[in-house]
Amino acid sequence: LIAHFQPKRLAGKKLLITAGPTFEPIDPVRGITNLSSGKMGFAIARAAVEAGAEVTLVAGPVHLPTPRGVRRLDVQTAQQMFDAVLPLAPQQDIVVATAAVADWRPAQMNAHKIKKKDGGKAAPVFELTENPDILAAVSASVDPAKTFCVGFAAESQDLAKHAREKLERKRVPLIVGNLGPVTFGRDDNALLLVDAQGERELPHNDKLSLARELLRDVAERIAKARP
Ligand code: CTP
Ligand code: CA
Repeated sequence: LIAHFQPKRLAGKKLLITAGPTFEPIDPVRGITNLSSGKMGFAIARAAVEAGAEVTLVAGPVHLPTPRGVRRLDVQTAQQMFDAVLPLAPQQDIVVATAAVADWRPAQMNAHKIKKKDGGKAAPVFELTENPDILAAVSASVDPAKTFCVGFAAESQDLAKHAREKLERKRVPLIVGNLGPVTFGRDDNALLLVDAQGERELPHNDKLSLARELLRDVAERIAKARP
């Protein structure tokens, strides 16, 4: 019922969200991933639909139902997420990157399951290679006057400092910081909005309420930039 009465601040806007972890295969039965639940990204997708936006959700492997009214594209690897997101980005009014993209992937994918060697030989050593930075590539490829990019930063310490560093490195106008790992996978969190001017805290709340507050803030930024 509350959802129904949310103001339609994003009516007519297109919004793309990345969410969840990525999974980087080592062989057909195992790989590298992380503990991202996807909950914050899915909450933003739901809140964006409530706000009247046309929403595309590009999700890594998560166990969450698709919010009503959302177009969902499922991917596994960082490269697949990159390939899904980059062509769609220039048409968006807002891109929100909440995905915990695996920073590295195994340099080689073995076509068959790697077997333990007989006779106690050494464990395999995997070479890793860095994945592309999806958010940085999006922000470099869109018109910043058309597409507003929002990044997330999950940190275990020095939140404001790391968030500000990411704001500059990825050249986005807004980074949303949160401190973990205690909040990862939970239904609640607190967020720190970091932009070129300063910082604003969205105090501890459930993730859907935080998502609504974040989108209200972003809608205001867009309205100010393009009245
Ligand atoms: N991100 C991305 N593609 C990547 C890595 C990160 O799009 N390959 C995005 C995340 O979705 C998030 C933001 O960039 O919005 C920050 O992610 P984070 O992992 O905190 O930053 P990194 O640049 O990977 O730095 P590090 O993990 O070393 O702190
Ligand atoms: Ca990272």
